[in-house]
Amino acid sequence: MSDMIRDDDGVSNPSANDHLHQLIEREIARNPSRRSLLKSGATLGLLGIFGSALTACGGGDAEAAPVPGTIGFKPLAANSGSAVVVPEGYVAEVMFRWGDPVLASAPAFKGDGSETWREQEAQSGENHDGINFFPYPGTDGNTRGILAMNHEYINPEYFHNVANFNRPEVADNTKKQLAGHGVSIIEVRRSSTGKWEYVQDSPYNRRITGYTPISISGPAAGNDLMKTAADPSGTEALGTLNNCGAGQTPWGTYITCEENFNGYFGTDSATWVPNALQGRYGLSKGGFGYNWHKGDSRFDLAVNPNEPNRFGWVVEIDPYAPNSKPKKRTALGRYKHENAECVLSKANKAVVYSGCDERNEYLYKFVSNGSYDPANRASGANLLDSGTLYVARFDAGTVVGDNQGTGVWLPLVFGQNGLTAENGFANQAEVVIKARQAADRVGATMMDRPEWVAANRTKAGEVFLACTNNSRRGTTPASSNKVDGTTVAGSARPAVDEANPRAGNNWGHVIRFNEANADAASTTFNWDIFVIAGNPALDGAKKGSANIDASNTFNSPDGIQVDPEGRLWIQTDGSFANTGDYINQGNNQMLVADIATKKITRFLVGPDGCEVTGVCWTPDSRAMFINIQHPGEVGSHPNAPKDLKGFASMDEFIANNPTAFSRWPDGASAGRPRSATVVIRKLDGGVIGT
Ligand code: FEO
Ligand code: CA
Ligand code: CA
Ligand code: CA
Repeated sequence: MSDMIRDDDGVSNPSANDHLHQLIEREIARNPSRRSLLKSGATLGLLGIFGSALTACGGGDAEAAPVPGTIGFKPLAANSGSAVVVPEGYVAEVMFRWGDPVLASAPAFKGDGSETWREQEAQSGENHDGINFFPYPGTDGNTRGILAMNHEYINPEYFHNVANFNRPEVADNTKKQLAGHGVSIIEVRRSSTGKWEYVQDSPYNRRITGYTPISISGPAAGNDLMKTAADPSGTEALGTLNNCGAGQTPWGTYITCEENFNGYFGTDSATWVPNALQGRYGLSKGGFGYNWHKGDSRFDLAVNPNEPNRFGWVVEIDPYAPNSKPKKRTALGRYKHENAECVLSKANKAVVYSGCDERNEYLYKFVSNGSYDPANRASGANLLDSGTLYVARFDAGTVVGDNQGTGVWLPLVFGQNGLTAENGFANQAEVVIKARQAADRVGATMMDRPEWVAANRTKAGEVFLACTNNSRRGTTPASSNKVDGTTVAGSARPAVDEANPRAGNNWGHVIRFNEANADAASTTFNWDIFVIAGNPALDGAKKGSANIDASNTFNSPDGIQVDPEGRLWIQTDGSFANTGDYINQGNNQMLVADIATKKITRFLVGPDGCEVTGVCWTPDSRAMFINIQHPGEVGSHPNAPKDLKGFASMDEFIANNPTAFSRWPDGASAGRPRSATVVIRKLDGGVIGT
């Protein structure tokens, strides 16, 4: 057992989908005399998957394990304040903000948005999102690690100084926005006071941006649809964009997800119209208003029509090999990946679950052909390049208990189920590039915006899916069924079904499914609805399911993860208006659920305007890292002014008044609000949630 500890890298037990650290702690609790054996003999060479060599070994001397899964804190009330609030006995400390220096060469954040792109590419990106913890080589990870995190997008109104606001035609401004995207990798340490800090000059620190060279691997590599004038071989993309959620492989790599990539593309061409592929992926002349095509022709749809095909993938990064080249793993399919949850099947195949976050899109999973050998880290190196991509169909099945249904994983394999040349799929490369259309054809179930998928590593085969909300199901006509603002001809709005049971689903729900035979590689599953979020102040279906009451009401579940001891954590990204449908719900928040009882308890409330997203732990579950994204984003902000004081738009108002909505996290000295990583710990040093 001991020689398996390090290559697990704090994630999962290959044979039982259990957490190795947890198995060790359990064994120590049962037989304390084995402590030193279990804690000292854990040595295994860690070879950089894509490059440099490292050595890792177990060490440290953890305390006795608490009762796994206990939830013991005093529940938190909703609030609409301007701070991060956690329960009594806990502390939440800001550790790593947008603009904080990552590389040794980086300047300190200036506070006025005046950084150049060169300075931004050495600092933290903006809009922190998915985050994963990797134990520092040679340690047990409980006091030292490497964090990898996503920077999903930038808010132009906060990102530049006034002189450069709304001037994408200045190439350096577009380049700076690209530099604010991507991934940060930072070393983190627990200090002698117990507080965590990041290390600026660590050799592991790295920024990956919207223009970092990234290999294209798997079936789409070299396909004609992947070729551009700048890359005639179709094998190397520049950058990763809109990195939303993420995941971690059992071999210790970071898998980051490209979500709403379509929004960065556009064109001023009067004659451009989207083809079927571009239309299905939501590409449009105006995009989301970034207007990068004005500053960089790479993003001009009329000039580089294949460039968007090089986004919408899962990208694998080895955080232990800072000089390694990231890889776009095309076998996992191209769509708006939310996160990527990786577990091992009974036969040690890599299984990656991922949702496509858009209204009425699908849930997918990938099962590798090969198997991972836990004694040989390098056996994971190219596992994600070949395997079977599936998409989920949720069936009503026989009603057993609470909304129990069955489901099938439908293969997206060239030549099967109509995925043939005459139907527009010339080969498997085209199946993965056009994964949405392939899923349409095989009859997958349209979901209420699939957000994060979270596996319960204390129960093999059990997986959760957050469906954040969906205002476009059921009750209104097809004419209002829009994709990114464009009416989609002929697409009827789907009716409610058992897995998406509510029309006008403003609050969202969480589905649980259990794979057949408790094996992640199975092609069938059972499912039930774990919670239908809602508001007890309202009537009927709007109230939500029985485990929602006045003490835990929330909307829009988004980030979810099951901690190493089996608690389900739920983070929200929805309305913080605290009025109407959302009355008494306060700001976006984080709750925790007891999976056995379905009881849900509020644990954290974020500052107004923010989304709470991304969560990971040290292996001993005594430090929790979360991200606070876009504090001060206006959205439904109750303080949004009606009078813009002569400014042409709210964005222009904010560009000129960058502290009008939030000063989080810097307070009185703030030049503008900043997304940030927050570390949560229990003052008595205990496990988070107890
Ligand atoms: Fe980036 Fe679906 O949230
Ligand atoms: Ca999200
Ligand atoms: Ca969301
Ligand atoms: Ca967000």
